[in-house]
Amino acid sequence: MSIDKKFVDQLAIVTSKAALASSYLVGKKDKIAADKAAVDSMRTNLNQFDIRGEIVIGEGELDEAPMLYIGEKLGTNKGPEFDIAVDPLEGTNFAANNQPGALSVIAIAEKNNLFKAPETYMEKISTKINEKNIVDLDYTVKKNISNLSDYLNKNPENLTACILDRPRHKEIIEELKKLKVNLKLITDGDVSGALLVTEEKYNIDIFLGIGGGPEGVLAAAALDAFSCSFQGRFIFDTEDDKVRANKMGINDLTKKYELHEIVAGDSIFCATGITSGDLVKGIEIRDNEFFSETLVTHKSTGLKKVLKLKQNL
Ligand code: FBP
Repeated sequence: MSIDKKFVDQLAIVTSKAALASSYLVGKKDKIAADKAAVDSMRTNLNQFDIRGEIVIGEGELDEAPMLYIGEKLGTNKGPEFDIAVDPLEGTNFAANNQPGALSVIAIAEKNNLFKAPETYMEKISTKINEKNIVDLDYTVKKNISNLSDYLNKNPENLTACILDRPRHKEIIEELKKLKVNLKLITDGDVSGALLVTEEKYNIDIFLGIGGGPEGVLAAAALDAFSCSFQGRFIFDTEDDKVRANKMGINDLTKKYELHEIVAGDSIFCATGITSGDLVKGIEIRDNEFFSETLVTHKSTGLKKVLKLKQNL
């Protein structure tokens, strides 16, 4: 089964409206308000669709989030059944501080085809190469770089790695420097970071490191459509994390997930720019209209493009 193409356009409208709602709060130094605006808009618009949707990646669990919580049912309760992953505002600091790269993101798959995960960190690795045993979460940084270098026939000094600039990555970053790999250190926004491996123009050969689990699942949906590789391993540090994971049916807490175990079958991914970034431009308002750019992918039709929309305010 595949997902009707009409949902690509509908979902791009959902993320563009959420991006617009959040854009009014760009630079206001209030990430909670910017997030809430995007959440409210996304929820209202998704609820108008003739779908039977369930949030599998959202704003948290019911006790933490009143809207778009994991398990929330969305839509008119008519039509196809979908798993829905959302990050209405990815890069809350970017929006609050008017910096590049804030996005509104959604991914859908047919029911039971998107990974349902609690909000914890995830160890991630992705490249443009869709072949086994080239890069792997279980390999050392050195082995991954050496394999990638051989496979791409490029010296390590001509490779570029994207990674979140965090103290927890000190050792990985030191190792990459030692290997003379070029770095693209990002301050936030690792959905976008992971997607930089998708096209030559971004000049990123490998994305790695620890970021949000929900962001990993969302990125995986787009990476699947681009036939890139992705592996993820959730990090369940606290007792509470472990209990939540067990409740969601995750029993092996140290499992390394391959892309196809995170997203399977057909899927749609949409990411609209709130502020301009590497992937897409931000929202622009002129007179009574707004202009948006959305990276859209649809696995079954092979669609992968930046959709530019002009809509009335
Ligand atoms: P928010 O939009 O929730 O602020 O997340 C931004 C982000 O940079 C994600 O892209 C990334 O996965 C995560 O935060 C990393 O978490 P941390 O800032 O705790 O390292």
